[in-house]
Amino acid sequence: MADSHDGAATSGAAETAVERRENAAPSPGVAVARTDRVPNPGFPPERLRVTDMDPAKEKQAERTVSGLFLLSVVGSVLAVVAYIAFPIDEADPSSIRLNNLFLGLGITLGLLGIGIGAVHWSKALMHGHELVEQRHPTRGSDETRAKALEIFSESNKESGFTRRSLVRNTLIGAIVATPIPAVVLFRDLAPAEDPIGLLRHTMWEAGTRLTRDPSGTPILASEVTIGSAFHVIPDGLAQLESHKLEEKAKAAVLLMRLPVDRLNETEERRSWSYDGIVAYSKICTHVGCPVALYEQQTHHLLCPCHQSEFDVANHAAVIFGPAARPLPQLPISVDDEGYLIATSDFTEPVGPSFWEREL
Ligand code: FES
Repeated sequence: MADSHDGAATSGAAETAVERRENAAPSPGVAVARTDRVPNPGFPPERLRVTDMDPAKEKQAERTVSGLFLLSVVGSVLAVVAYIAFPIDEADPSSIRLNNLFLGLGITLGLLGIGIGAVHWSKALMHGHELVEQRHPTRGSDETRAKALEIFSESNKESGFTRRSLVRNTLIGAIVATPIPAVVLFRDLAPAEDPIGLLRHTMWEAGTRLTRDPSGTPILASEVTIGSAFHVIPDGLAQLESHKLEEKAKAAVLLMRLPVDRLNETEERRSWSYDGIVAYSKICTHVGCPVALYEQQTHHLLCPCHQSEFDVANHAAVIFGPAARPLPQLPISVDDEGYLIATSDFTEPVGPSFWEREL
């Protein structure tokens, strides 16, 4: 009852409130549409620049712009020269600093020359009046296309792109020269030798001793106890003076010993292990992370990057994860002194797949 009484009572009050609200000042949060009482002032009159009034200044600005574009060319050439003149020497860390410093300075000059030149061109030489560009449909009717052509021609006339051949040609030269350092740098990333051959072969060969990573000390077969795992590199890798990391990235191996009766070996690979000791590439066949986690109870190897799991007891077959191939096995034996040696290189490329792998 109280509700219906209240409703009747508020009905008349509500009309009064509406009227009051129309006349009252807007409360916060209520949008009020007003007509714009401030007229559009339009654009201020165009102010002529010195280059608009003095042909000599205009010529000078043109030379400045061309000079900046030429500076860009010089910077790009300098970057290439610096890259060749200050090569990176792995044994000398200061060579990296010099190489990066001069390479960076050259590329900076190349980019800044174009950037500052273009800004100066637009500010000093192109027409300075302001325009209102009305929105219009973007589809290309004949009329629109004709208009676009007209605008393009007009812009060309105003900027002097075809008329100022010196500016235009130096700009084209700068744009052509700027990517050259990138081409040289990326080309130099490719190996000088046949990359497929490099991927197929590692430092392992018949008779190479298996040594501990990173000390390079050889491993006796008797030191490899059941359940243990060794991080292994080929003998001689630790002493390499150049390309050590590249070689290690292909030749790194994990060595494990399992009870002989736990190994399921194919007839063909029975001679690849030594008394339960097996060696597998440490480079994941997914995208090449080091497979460094060994679970000695299950004899599983886990790659921490994307959780691929390999079963060492079954020729490192993939039992989980995105890897598509088992880890390549390194055939091993022992020499006269009881040290573990490889009996050949890997019989297939290690690491991730590549197009030519099966060729
Ligand atoms: S790199 Fe090993 S699972 Fe992806």
